[in-house]
Amino acid sequence: MKALVIGATGHIGNAIVRALLDQGLEVTATSRKSTPGYNLADLPVHFACGDSSVSGQFDAWISGHDIVVDAAAPYPLSVLQGTRDPDSDPVSDAARRTRDLLKAVFKHNARLVSIGSFATISSQRRGFDAVQHEMMRRAHPYFAVKEAIEAETLDATRNGIKAILLNPTMCIGPWDMRNREFCIVPRLLAGEVPAMTNQILNLIDVRDVADATIAALKAEKFGEPIPLSGHNISVDMLFSWICEIGGVRPPRTCVPTSLAVAGSYWAELALTLLGQSTPMPSVFLMLASTLDCPTRDRCQVELGIAPRPLYGTILDAIDWYRRIGYC
Ligand SMILES: NC(=O)c1ccc[n+]([C@@H]2O[C@H](COP(=O)([O-])OP(=O)(O)OC[C@H]3O[C@@H](n4cnc5c(N)ncnc54)[C@H](OP(=O)(O)O)[C@@H]3O)[C@@H](O)[C@H]2O)c1
Repeated sequence: MKALVIGATGHIGNAIVRALLDQGLEVTATSRKSTPGYNLADLPVHFACGDSSVSGQFDAWISGHDIVVDAAAPYPLSVLQGTRDPDSDPVSDAARRTRDLLKAVFKHNARLVSIGSFATISSQRRGFDAVQHEMMRRAHPYFAVKEAIEAETLDATRNGIKAILLNPTMCIGPWDMRNREFCIVPRLLAGEVPAMTNQILNLIDVRDVADATIAALKAEKFGEPIPLSGHNISVDMLFSWICEIGGVRPPRTCVPTSLAVAGSYWAELALTLLGQSTPMPSVFLMLASTLDCPTRDRCQVELGIAPRPLYGTILDAIDWYRRIGYC
C-alpha cells in the first residue's frame, strides 16, 4: 500500500506520516519547499515538492497511491482575508481546491482522509453559545472555508468517493513547525502571553489524531464526520502545567473569554486596516472558545481512540519546541 500525505511538514500531517510508516506503508510526503523540513529529515519517505494550488498538482501527486491524506486544507488566519482582492474569495477557492482533490482521488481510485475542524460540529451548541458561534462565523472567514471544504467532501462520498472526514479539536504534541508566533507553548514559556482566559479548552495529542486516521481507514468509516476530542482542561490549569514544567511563572491576569475574543477581533481589524500585523490572530481565541467541554463522540469510542495522558503530551511538546530552538 502506498500513501500520500499532503501537508507532511505540518503538525498533524507529520504525525500521520509517522503513524503510516509504523504500519509498514510506503509514504510520499509533500511540501512546497524544495527540501524536506526538519520534522521529515530522518524519516524514510519519498519526498515530493509541489503546491496544491497549481493546476494538475493533485493528479500528479495522487497517481500510484492507494491512500491520500489531506492535512493541508486552507485555514484563513486573517479577519480580512480575501476582502481586498476582488479575484480571490477564500471560500470559493477552498471549495474549488477540494473539488480538484476529490476528482483526482476518484480518477486514481484512491481513498481519502481529510482533516477538517471541530469548529464545524454544531450539534452541541445551545443558547448564548450558539449565538456567539454564529457571530464568529459571520465575523471570520475561517468558519465558512472549513464548512465549504467539509460539505464538498461529504457530498462526494454520497457519489461514491471513499472519503473519511476527521474533525479534531485543538492539537498539541511534538513535530509542530508552524511560525513560532502561532505556538502558544514556547510563547508562554518566554513570558510573551500576558493573560489567560477563564474557559475550558479541549486538547488532543496529534498522535491520537494520527492513530484515529489509521483506525478510521481500517474500519472504512467513509462519509460521516468523525469528531475527535481529547482532554477538557481550564486555561488556568493548562498554563500552570506548562509553566511548572518550564520553570517560569504563569500569567496572573485572567480575562473573560468573550471579552478576549471581542478585544482580539477588534484589535486585529484595526491593526490590519492600519497595514500592521497582529501579534496573535483572533481566530485562535475564537477556535478555543468553540471547544467548551465536548464529550467523546460515539465514532471515536468505536475506533478505540482514548486520549493519551495530557501531562506527557505537554512534556513532549516542550521537548520538541526546545529542540527546534523555539524556547
Ligand atoms: N492544529 C490544530 O490544532 C488543528 C485542529 C483542527 C483542524 N486542523 C486542520 O488540520 C489541517 C492541518 O493543520 P496543521 O495544524 O497540521 O497545519 P500546519 O502545521 O500549518 O500544516 C499545514 C501544512 O500544509 C502545507 N501547505 C500549506 N499550503 C499548501 C499548499 N498550497 N500546497 C501544498 N502544501 C501546503 C504546509 O506545508 P509546506 O509549508 O511544507 O508546504 C504545512 O506544513 C488544517 O486544515 C487545519 O485547519 C488543525
